[in-house]
Amino acid sequence: MRVGVLTGGGDCPGLNAVIRAVVRKGVRTHGFEFVGFRDGWKGPLEGLTMELGIEQCRGILPRGGTILGSSRTNPFKIENGVERIKDNLAEHGVDALVAIGGEDTLGVATKLADLGVHVVGVPKTIDNDLSGTDFTFGFDTAVNIATEAIDRLHTTAESHHRVLVVEVMGRHAGWIALHSGIAGGASAVLIPEQPFDIEQLCANVEARFETSYAPIIVVSEGAVPAAGGDMTLVSGEKDAFGHVRLGGIGDRIAGEIEQRTGKEARAVVLGHVQRGGTPTAFDRWLATRFGLQAIDAVADGDWGTMMALRGTKIIRVPLSEGTAELKLVSPEEYAEAQVFFG
Ligand code: F6P
Repeated sequence: MRVGVLTGGGDCPGLNAVIRAVVRKGVRTHGFEFVGFRDGWKGPLEGLTMELGIEQCRGILPRGGTILGSSRTNPFKIENGVERIKDNLAEHGVDALVAIGGEDTLGVATKLADLGVHVVGVPKTIDNDLSGTDFTFGFDTAVNIATEAIDRLHTTAESHHRVLVVEVMGRHAGWIALHSGIAGGASAVLIPEQPFDIEQLCANVEARFETSYAPIIVVSEGAVPAAGGDMTLVSGEKDAFGHVRLGGIGDRIAGEIEQRTGKEARAVVLGHVQRGGTPTAFDRWLATRFGLQAIDAVADGDWGTMMALRGTKIIRVPLSEGTAELKLVSPEEYAEAQVFFG
């Protein structure tokens, strides 16, 4: 069998570990051949390929990014997109596809599977917001990077008696903020799922200064104030999947805090640092196991499935289930962090 592999959407640490596992087990155990499709769905859409075998996968386990490249191409927004993909798969003699991506890339995979394309999915995203799986790889690395940043910010905030507001990624889900905020001992964590009260936040800030510690506020890029207002955008322009670019809530909050409390405040935007560089051991382990299971699913002809972590087991779920809804932070999970606010 000849298998195509692609990585789509925002990159995340661990993508190369999946590719390596898929190829290594595919060649050694199943005797498959591989072709790499470049830049997400753009690859099969435009016939952009690269050689992919054990040789190309040497040394990539600890490398961030993706050797295949990525993009946010949506073939369903392009004229004859599906036909072009089917034609290119046939032209390259590809019998099956392993698609590694988040809600958008796997959303495309779900629809293609319904249209008869032989595809299996592997979930990735630093946001950890896919409902079918306990964790996605990339998330643990992002949380560790954010936690290290928070640890560092504590000392400079205390030296200057300042408030530091740390803006992290996550779109509509507050997982990165919640986990790094708990791990880093934040004075408040603001997430998209729970609109925040600016007066309460300022009260937390003042209470924190009373203990002679400086407050660190961790804010998810999608957080919104309870007293009206929308998410803060870098630009209203939408990508092929209808997403706007979020960013700027950290600065807004720092400004409000200064104005209301008279305390000096600074915002730090961690941005794409959270997605770059080498994956943690956990993410390498998870990504590798997803890859091993995905190529077994191909060998079994289990099309339209997505690999998912449940407890410590990797299982297969229908792609449609994995991408049906976003996994968000529950009020109970948020309440655990609130114990430490102020
Ligand atoms: O979905 C992953 C993610 O990193 C989000 O957390 C963030 O909002 C978005 O991608 C950023 O996208 P871009 O790569 O277009 O800057």
